[in-house]
Amino acid sequence: MTEKVPLRLLELYSGIGGMQFAMKGADVPYCLVAAMELNDVANKVYKHNFPGDNLMQKNIEGLSVKEMEILNADIILMSPPCQPFTRIGNQKASEDPRTKSFLNILRIIKSMANPPKYILLENVKGFETSETREQLLSVLISVGYNYQEFLISPLQFGVPNSRLRYYLLAKLKPLNFQFPTSSEPIDHIPYVSPEKQSADHCDDVIVARDSIPYSCCRCGRPCLKVNGLIDPCPLSEYLEATADDEEFYLSGDILGRLGTVLDIVTPSSKRSCCFTKAYGTYVKGTGSVITTMKSESEIQETFESLKDTVDERLRSEQLLNLKLRYFSPQEVANLMCFPRYFSFPAATTTKQKFKLLGNSINVFVVSQLLKNSLLTDCR
Ligand SMILES: C[S@@+](CC[C@H](N)C(=O)[O-])C[C@H]1O[C@@H](n2cnc3c(N)ncnc32)[C@H](O)[C@@H]1O
Repeated sequence: MTEKVPLRLLELYSGIGGMQFAMKGADVPYCLVAAMELNDVANKVYKHNFPGDNLMQKNIEGLSVKEMEILNADIILMSPPCQPFTRIGNQKASEDPRTKSFLNILRIIKSMANPPKYILLENVKGFETSETREQLLSVLISVGYNYQEFLISPLQFGVPNSRLRYYLLAKLKPLNFQFPTSSEPIDHIPYVSPEKQSADHCDDVIVARDSIPYSCCRCGRPCLKVNGLIDPCPLSEYLEATADDEEFYLSGDILGRLGTVLDIVTPSSKRSCCFTKAYGTYVKGTGSVITTMKSESEIQETFESLKDTVDERLRSEQLLNLKLRYFSPQEVANLMCFPRYFSFPAATTTKQKFKLLGNSINVFVVSQLLKNSLLTDCR
C-alpha cells in the first residue's frame, strides 16, 4: 500500500492550538507549515504544547499572496475573531476592524494560483446571517470550491457542554463531499459509512442523519442514544479532584448579588453552558458553576427557601452552604475536548487560561468534521 503524502496544514488565528489538536484527532497524516497568531499569551501556550512548530507571531492583516504561495498549504484551519458577529457584540461584521484580517485572507485566496484544497472555518452562531458570510461564499464560488455549512454543538457528540457554532467546510473542485450538500447550514454531520468513503464522490452513498457511531471523547465508551439523541456522559467524567480548591469557590459577595442568575450543575448533570472568555470574571451567561457536595434536590430546596428573600446577606449565607465553585481551567479544557496531555505554561494566570479557552474551539467537534466530512478522501 502506498503511503499518503502528509497534508500541508496552515493554522490561522491559532490561539492555543485547538485546530491542530483537532487535526491530530482526524487520523489523517499532516505536517504543519505554519501557525499564525497575534496574541503573545496564546502563543506561549501554543509553543508550550507544540515546541518544534513554526509558530509566527503575525498580524494576518499584513499577510501577502506571495507569503501564502510560499507556504503552499493544502489545508487552512481557522477561527477568525468572532466579536463582530456575536449576538451581544456590535454585529458590524465586515465593517468591524477586527474582520479586516479575514477579508485579507479572502482576497488572498481569490488571487492564489494554487489555492488550498481544503478549508475549515469556525465562528459563532450569527456568522451565518452576516454579510461577511456572503463575501466568503462569493469568493469560494468564484475560485471553484464545493462547500457545506453546519450549525452544531458538542452536546450532539456526547459532550455535556453547549457550544453551538457555525462551521464551513470547503473542498476545491473537482474534490467533492460524499453526501448531497445543502445551501443552508445543516445541524448534523451526515454519515457516510467507511466502506463508501473513497477518493471519488459517490452518488449512491447511504447518508443517515446523526448516525455516526461516536465514542465518548472522554471515557472512550460508545455513546448511547435515548429517544434518537446521543446521551452525553455525566460531568463527573470531566472533573478533576484538585479543582475542589478554595481558589475556585464563589465568594459570598457574588452569591448575595448574583446567586439567582447562576446556572448550577452537579457531577451527575449531563449538560453545562458554553464557557466564554469572561468566565471567572463575570457570572451571568459566561458558563455554569458546579457543586460537588450537594445534590440537585438540596440545591432546589435552598433556592425554594430563598424565593422571597431580598436580603443579600441572608442569600449569601445560604448559598455559601452549597459550596458552589467555578469549573477549573483544566475541567473547561476537558469539556472542550482538549487531549489529556494539553497543558498551560506555569506562568499563565487563571484569568488568562479562562480567556484563552473561552476563545478556543471544541476539539472533538472539529476533529469529527475533518474526519467524517472534509477529509474523507485523504484516508
Ligand atoms: C477565536 S480565536 C481563535 C482560537 C484558536 N482557534 C484556539 O484554538 O485557541 C481568534 C484568535 O485570533 C487572534 N487574532 C485576532 N486578530 C488577529 C490578527 N489580525 N492577526 C493574527 N491573529 C489575530 C486572536 O488573538 C485570537 O487568539
